[in-house]
Amino acid sequence: KKEVLILAIESSCDETAAAVVRNGREVLSNVISSQIALHTLYGGVVPEIASRKHIEKINQVVEAALAEADVTLADIDAIGVTYGPGLVGALLVGVAAAKAIAYAAGKPLIGVHHIEGHIAANFIEHKELEPPFFSLVVSGGHTHLVRVKDYGQFDIIGRTRDDAAGEAFDKVARAIGLGYPGGPKIDKVAKEGNPEAISFPRAHVEDAPYDFSFSGVKSAVLNYINGCQMKGEVYSQADVAASFQKAVTDVLVANAMHAVEEYQVDKLAIAGGVASNSALREAMKTACEAKGVEFYYPSPIYCTDNAAMIGVAAYYEYLSGTRHGWDLNAVPNLKL
Ligand code: KG4
Ligand code: ZN
Repeated sequence: KKEVLILAIESSCDETAAAVVRNGREVLSNVISSQIALHTLYGGVVPEIASRKHIEKINQVVEAALAEADVTLADIDAIGVTYGPGLVGALLVGVAAAKAIAYAAGKPLIGVHHIEGHIAANFIEHKELEPPFFSLVVSGGHTHLVRVKDYGQFDIIGRTRDDAAGEAFDKVARAIGLGYPGGPKIDKVAKEGNPEAISFPRAHVEDAPYDFSFSGVKSAVLNYINGCQMKGEVYSQADVAASFQKAVTDVLVANAMHAVEEYQVDKLAIAGGVASNSALREAMKTACEAKGVEFYYPSPIYCTDNAAMIGVAAYYEYLSGTRHGWDLNAVPNLKL
């Protein structure tokens, strides 16, 4: 049989998702049931509510993914599932569902690292992209600069010391009254603002040129708006958003470019929710062009959490022989 079909499940945070992927590169279906509206009421993801919602949705989402792909379980070669990192209760729902389906249908089970999935999202729309390359993974929970040596083989060369990039976007958005989730809202409002209006710090970690720190810029924004409020001044939401976004993207681009030079890289792929940020894409594209580096990024739907990317990663794990037992568990702090 020359065709490999993976049914993939993702439930690590607040999206219940299932997808069918053919031969690791072709998405036959990509179903996402988002809980964002629900969590918006609380200003962020409430883990217990996320787990309960996953339980309600998981079967429906899996059935929809199979139906949209026009396949049945019998056609599927393996079940891939995110087993970490993420919220433990949320992960457990996906893992339990995947195990049950795989066991009942007699299919192999493949646990996938969530970040490996984010990076693999780049393979969907860039059929020519193959390792080795560099990846900057920027999401709500992670900020990693990764050397992708081969499919499923990674070296993390830089990471955040405190907040993840997406986390900083979410916290700043909340502080300036934009609500949750903050990233897309800051992206939109920033288009009306001046990125040079306010000078927020660009933190570089001493002796660790590839590491990141975003708690300083976040605090600087909070201090700035508190200062305005104390003086009875009205601040420009758009200018704060644009200046904050510029401070964060400047550091992401600077560290990525530093790595590209040092490691003599010719391909850079960004991944994760923040990779859909328009200012980051623009700035990284310009920087890569100046250095003659090929720049890759997934469409926004494949940047934020989805199961198609898990299906892609599971396909390459499938080829390299990875199989998990029925004792597969959720690992909230799983290492790459
Ligand atoms: O990858 P993802 O869906 O979930 C995690 O694995 O964490 O990333 C979600 C994060 C959130 O922090 C969200 O605010 C951010 O990605 N995000 C953005 C944009 N779209 C999503 N940040 C900046 N600009 C965006 N356009
Ligand atoms: Zn994610």
